[in-house]
Amino acid sequence: MSGAMLLSQHLTELAAATLQETLGLDERPDPLLRAANPQHGDYQLNAAMALGKKLGRKPRDIAEEAAVGLRALDAVASAEVAGPGFINLRLRPSWVGQQLSAALAAENLGIDPVATKETIVVDFSSPNTAKSMHIGHIRSTIIGAAIVELLRAAGHEVIGDNHLGDWGTQFGLLIMGLREWGDDEALERDGVEELERLYTQAAAKKKDDEAFADAARQALAELQGGDPEKRALWERFMAITREAFDAVYDRLGVTFDEWLGESAYQDRLDGVVGLLLEKGLAKEDQGAIGVFFQELEGDIPKKMRKEGYAPFLIRKKDGAFNYATTDVATILYRQERWDADRSVYVVDTRQGQHFEQLFTVAKLMGIDMRLDHVGFGKILGDDGKPLRTRDGGVPKLMPFLDEAEERARVRIEELREEGRLRIEDADLDEAFKTIGIGAVKYADLRQNRMTDYRFEPDKLVELSGNSGPYIQYQYARIRSIFAKGGQNFEGFTAPIALDHEREQELARHLVKYPDVVHTAAETYQPHLICEHLYEVASAFSSFYGDCPVLGSPEEKSRLALCALSARQLEHGLSLLGIGVLEKM
Ligand code: ARG
Repeated sequence: MSGAMLLSQHLTELAAATLQETLGLDERPDPLLRAANPQHGDYQLNAAMALGKKLGRKPRDIAEEAAVGLRALDAVASAEVAGPGFINLRLRPSWVGQQLSAALAAENLGIDPVATKETIVVDFSSPNTAKSMHIGHIRSTIIGAAIVELLRAAGHEVIGDNHLGDWGTQFGLLIMGLREWGDDEALERDGVEELERLYTQAAAKKKDDEAFADAARQALAELQGGDPEKRALWERFMAITREAFDAVYDRLGVTFDEWLGESAYQDRLDGVVGLLLEKGLAKEDQGAIGVFFQELEGDIPKKMRKEGYAPFLIRKKDGAFNYATTDVATILYRQERWDADRSVYVVDTRQGQHFEQLFTVAKLMGIDMRLDHVGFGKILGDDGKPLRTRDGGVPKLMPFLDEAEERARVRIEELREEGRLRIEDADLDEAFKTIGIGAVKYADLRQNRMTDYRFEPDKLVELSGNSGPYIQYQYARIRSIFAKGGQNFEGFTAPIALDHEREQELARHLVKYPDVVHTAAETYQPHLICEHLYEVASAFSSFYGDCPVLGSPEEKSRLALCALSARQLEHGLSLLGIGVLEKM
């Protein structure tokens, strides 16, 4: 393979050229390359059916003719025609071996960058301030961080942005709560927990105390109007919350390039409303200002034109701005500051309508930026219902992580006693963290993000199945082969020959890695990485069961196969924000 090209692309081009030549076509046809059922081949070409129609010939005859040309390629071991005209291809092991040796020697493991590099802002985690993070935030945080890494690995310029909800209506109530019941000592001691108490109390009082509600609205207006005293309180709330958030992010090992919360856009909101009015996209209705899709021309999804479909509100009757206003300002800012080609929002699917409206408005404004909402489902408890605490509340993130880590610790100690895990005492703390947090992340990321999934704390740490610990364990096994053989793992390279069936099977998975990374990045699907890692780890395990490495005549080549497997496992886990241990 030459230069920056993926295996699937390379094979597509080879097949296209071969079809054109053997069939004497004027143009290059799309060979319709697909992954095949492994029983039949590595890939399948489906072009003969469409070509048959076009040329007025039997697809099977076309396929037979093309197969002759395909068999002559270096990359192809066999090309068999099946059914009405499918061509099943198997790659030639010697050719695959060459690709793998090259990938092992390459710094990027063969993951060449995309041809068109984009600047992409990934908006993720984004909790609301003055509240502690709850379980709902873990998915945006973990999936978002993985998407940042995937897009970077694919070669894009990526900015990870924590779009905090730090400018909402909660601050009027908080200021009033602090005034009424505020207790400095409690605030020092309990931080964000105390803020939550104050907020809950204030929210309850507001319900049947008109004067209190008015005062809260007034306080909010003063804060948003720049009143220094209110501003100082807000800053204090922010510092307290930030400390609690940092504790969670530290624990998860997640970082951001920017922390541009809603408050960062406060000076731009007036301008956004003005702009939308000026463009004739927004109008006033009963004192509020919004975009009413039914009344507009242009590229608007049908359902938004239906009667009764909600408007996109950008200014409330009382003059306050909405979530929507900030999001429009954010898009304009991202365009202005980074000339961003794309914004990606990793947010609960329940906010789907908001983003659909936002993206439509951006298009109507003529903003030339790709906008994608990356949604995800819920975490369910043992009963198959959304995870709840005993008193019915939404579980907080910190205690959830504590519990998961504690379960992991107990299980790791059990496995150690059974002699199934070898971790030295000095390495234990690091192992609890790496395996425990890794298991929590992996259990989330291995799911198709759109589905709800059941969180099963008892099954977090198992050394089998598609789990983080299993992948880490196979990685450590490979490292121990190198340690035992006195071989240097870092920088190990050697030509790879694939003679044994188990070697070929492992190689078939390994050779797909660059494709998998690009597909996972393009479709925002970290679970594709998990599937790949699991296939590699399992294929490695079968290979190692049947093929001796150290001391065998094939030692060098097999060590190279081991090294590439380990590199992919480590690299793939790192994309998911999960570390490895050299010994396990
Ligand atoms: N703060 C919001 C929430 O907790 C999520 C923000 C998502 N990002 C955005 N640009 N709207 O629900």
